[in-house]
Amino acid sequence: WGLVGHSIIVRLAQSQLIDSAPEWIRSLTPWHWNGNLSAMASWADSILYEDNNPTGYANWQWSRMLHYVNIPDWSCDYQPERDCINDQCILGAIKNYTKRLVTEHDHIQQEEALYFLIHFLGDIHQPLHVGFRGDRGGNSVLGTFMNVTSRTNLHALWDVGLIAARLEKDFQKNISLYYDYIYQLMMDETSQIDDNLEQLSEQNINLICSQIYFDENNVTMNASVNFILGEIYYQRNIPIVEQRLVDGGRLLGTLLNRLAKTRPQQP
Ligand code: ADE
Ligand code: ZN
Ligand code: ZN
Repeated sequence: WGLVGHSIIVRLAQSQLIDSAPEWIRSLTPWHWNGNLSAMASWADSILYEDNNPTGYANWQWSRMLHYVNIPDWSCDYQPERDCINDQCILGAIKNYTKRLVTEHDHIQQEEALYFLIHFLGDIHQPLHVGFRGDRGGNSVLGTFMNVTSRTNLHALWDVGLIAARLEKDFQKNISLYYDYIYQLMMDETSQIDDNLEQLSEQNINLICSQIYFDENNVTMNASVNFILGEIYYQRNIPIVEQRLVDGGRLLGTLLNRLAKTRPQQP
């Protein structure tokens, strides 16, 4: 996701915090954000760009591969021992940063783990972050969207393009209004999800293998042909985007509540 998707997921999660969790989060958030964790939702992306990070740029490149996991093209299954060697993928990262938040005593390390965790839990709800190796999760599948002449790619369309179109069409580009809408979607939902991580990658794989790569004429998109997508693709997929934002916010909220309970008491 881009800034909007990540901040919505973290805001949804924060709206669900109970008991000691808000206070715990506050203790791990820069004071000037006033406990508002969503300001850190895209920190894990920002450290990857030299502009934001003129001196420390190289220091963080190891974390780039932790934002996603790739599977062999159209294999449509995730095998940890094949696709996530030494936990060097998003599922390993979520597992390890969750663990680190409970066991780590150093405050700076805890903060870092929290900022990575809230970001990766968002990314794992972007279907193409469980992607095909050959086209780098849709990054190499190029084309146009909504008659805009500049080219985009399928990955960027799912990170930001569909959400941007939704904001422009129905929310006067007002992110707060859009957040209120997604929050209501979450609250109106009766079902309780309790996914485990394997189920999350399975859901993403079902989406990429059955939906996301099919254009408006149900032809499979790939890296050697430019796509042309518009209203039909948008209408078909924006409900999926919004359900993933809801699921991401809900699961992150549940996880943070659980972590706040299980973390060792601070001296
Ligand atoms: N780079 C390579 N594969 C990727 C993926 N699936 N998602 C995001 N960035 C990637
Ligand atoms: Zn992405
Ligand atoms: Zn990311």
